[in-house]
Amino acid sequence: MKTIDKVLYSQYSKEKIAEAVKRVGAEITRDYTGKSPLIIGILKGSFIFMADLIREIDLLCQVDFMVVKSYGGGTVSSGLVRIVKDVDMDIKDRDVIIVEDILDTAATLQSVCDVLRARKPRSLKICVFLNKKTRRKILLDADYECFEIENEFVVGYGLDYAEKYRNLPYLAVLRDNDSAQEVQTEV
Ligand code: PRP
Repeated sequence: MKTIDKVLYSQYSKEKIAEAVKRVGAEITRDYTGKSPLIIGILKGSFIFMADLIREIDLLCQVDFMVVKSYGGGTVSSGLVRIVKDVDMDIKDRDVIIVEDILDTAATLQSVCDVLRARKPRSLKICVFLNKKTRRKILLDADYECFEIENEFVVGYGLDYAEKYRNLPYLAVLRDNDSAQEVQTEV
């Protein structure tokens, strides 16, 4: 049985998340002054971050979404990526910002960037909520990030385990731990 450990690092609280999202929103607002970026959220994981982030961006921007899945389930990314739904908008000559919940091995974003770059956007940047640098298999990094995290499996704020826990308003670490102190939820 896996349990969800409700004991969280303070930097992953609801308040700290809001602070970090506000900071990144301000960075994007500053960097894109006078421009109208197209912000593309990669679903499903980014939906909460995307919703909060765009409200912290003080620009005339547009949004679109892609649905991307890595093959396989569980807590380990397989490295194989499938685009389930493409963007609706034409990105040629646009300043595009890709928004992801987590940059892990980078297999997903590498595939997404390859697809989008071929369509000749004016610029293409990456904004992630979480950056797990130690797990990287591909040389690719984020232009904007809320937090760099260690190699732990986190859920909440859009991130799932087997499609569960996306609705947690904070980040929790998922562990094989039958003695988790507070809330224990069977998954
Ligand atoms: C997760 C996450 C990223 C990807 C990161 O997606 O949302 O897209 O894994 O891993 P990587 O850097 O190793 O490629 P997942 O396939 O779990 O789908 P989801 O967004 O629907 O949760």
